[in-house]
Amino acid sequence: MMREQLEDLRTRVLAELEQVDSLSALEDLRVKYIGKKGELTEILKGMGKLSPEERPVIGQLANEIRQKLEQELEQKKDALEKAQLEARLQEETIDVTLPGRPVATASRHPLTQVIEEVEDIFIGLGFEVAEGPEVETDYYNFEALNLPKNHPARDMQDSFYITEEILMRTHTSPVQARTMERKEGKVPVKIICPGKVYRRDDDDATHSHQFTQIEGLMIDEGIRMSDLKGILLTFAKEMFGPDQKIRLRPSFFPFTEPSVEVDISCVMCGGEGCRTCKQTGWIEILGAGMVHPRVLEMSGYDPKRYTGFAFGMGPDRIAMLKFGIDDIRHFYTNDLRFLEQFNRL
Ligand code: PHE
Repeated sequence: MMREQLEDLRTRVLAELEQVDSLSALEDLRVKYIGKKGELTEILKGMGKLSPEERPVIGQLANEIRQKLEQELEQKKDALEKAQLEARLQEETIDVTLPGRPVATASRHPLTQVIEEVEDIFIGLGFEVAEGPEVETDYYNFEALNLPKNHPARDMQDSFYITEEILMRTHTSPVQARTMERKEGKVPVKIICPGKVYRRDDDDATHSHQFTQIEGLMIDEGIRMSDLKGILLTFAKEMFGPDQKIRLRPSFFPFTEPSVEVDISCVMCGGEGCRTCKQTGWIEILGAGMVHPRVLEMSGYDPKRYTGFAFGMGPDRIAMLKFGIDDIRHFYTNDLRFLEQFNRL
């Protein structure tokens, strides 16, 4: 009786196994027949009713059948898994001819591009790049530059004050004083200093309360105004093209004497006169002059022995000319539609 039951079980399982086409169906089959609470266990509960002679024979048969079924199920499982993998591989074949998704790369800010270009030119002329703090003391921003307290020229450079004595620097000129102090009277001093500067200003298309400057300073024995002119002309030609001319106009800065404003011939019209240069043929790009003897003295250089020049230019202005940008505020509003246009390097 039990023998028939067992053999019948085997036949049914093997027949059903033929039909199984998924791993989950296979698992269901296993649980149903040879699982702990499956049919085989159920049949074997009848063992107790067998005679002592029959018991080992049936026991052995039951084991053989269990082993056989386990083996068959295992094989089926392997086969199903393999088929599943095959199917997945088929489905997931990679089409290498598809164009890749473009990786979004950052672009260098137009001001950074201009500053680095200016740096390259001056490094080529033997200058070093120096940096100074944006939060500056009244002393370095004004006093050491011959702008004592209550000097009227301070009015043009109202700033954001943190305390009475500490402010956001209004120009990169404090790096002149800091560098001279650091050099302790040694020459030559040949630096340019790019960086952010701040002024209290009503923002419009050409004014921003934050902008950038590049300060230049050269001190040695026998430095003359003609050296300043030569360096600036070389710079203008490198930056804007070999036909560039420059023009020096008298001006005033408390920290230079004499002082000049420097114009370059208009990069748009070449000097003919156009809207950009307001029909003058010239564009102002920097202020400069011979370092004031008092400034030299205050920072530890003997003005009888050493002379030097300094200049300060505005990368914002240069970048606006170079790229044809009509509003300075674009540089500081972080609009990706603007910034992404400079992604050509
Ligand atoms: N610091 C001056 C300014 O911001 C520019 C300047 C620098 C002029 C160096 C002369 C020499 O207006």
